[in-house]
Amino acid sequence: MLNRQAFGDPANAGNWPTEKEARDLLENWVPNEKLRNHMFQVGWLLRCWAKEKEGLDEHHQWKWQVTGWLHDADWEKWPETHCQKIVEELEQRQTDPEVINAIAAHGPAHFGVEPKTRLDKMLYAFDELSGFVHAYSLMRPGGYQGMETKGVLKRLKDKTFAAQVSREDIRDAAERIPMPVEELIDFVISHQADTPQIKSRP
Ligand SMILES: [Fe+2]
Ligand SMILES: [Fe+2]
Repeated sequence: MLNRQAFGDPANAGNWPTEKEARDLLENWVPNEKLRNHMFQVGWLLRCWAKEKEGLDEHHQWKWQVTGWLHDADWEKWPETHCQKIVEELEQRQTDPEVINAIAAHGPAHFGVEPKTRLDKMLYAFDELSGFVHAYSLMRPGGYQGMETKGVLKRLKDKTFAAQVSREDIRDAAERIPMPVEELIDFVISHQADTPQIKSRP
């Protein structure tokens, strides 16, 4: 629980990390490639959504993307207090409060912060679903190729598959947008495989 509802300073609106700054932070905080990959995937989905569904310009597409890139940045080193550390770090860096709020609200049941904006809600919605679809791709011989929404739905009903993924969070997040879970799954299937491969240490 974060035990507060307001994050960042409105005077910092319009300021968010550059690609280099975000990448450097991940290099230091997240040695785990799988976790970084998760954040890159969520970031990519948010970027595509910002462009295609919200009609945002390139500058704001990156705002959405970097929010995804950083949402679990403190998970590896400070799991017990997730996501307090990254929130404080971004506040220190004078980051746009909308970016910080979205990160603080990506698990209302866990952090006690309600998702309010579109960015808040889409980060929350893609977070668990992205990881779930990725887990499903890893067990399919063709990966994402030929993947269908109904296959994902079937796995969601199977509580033993990717058991750590909260079905309740997926349902709750879709309801808050509001949007059928099926449509979100369609979007993840059609975009996630295109996540640019980002090499960590060359
Ligand atoms: Fe998280
Ligand atoms: Fe996450």
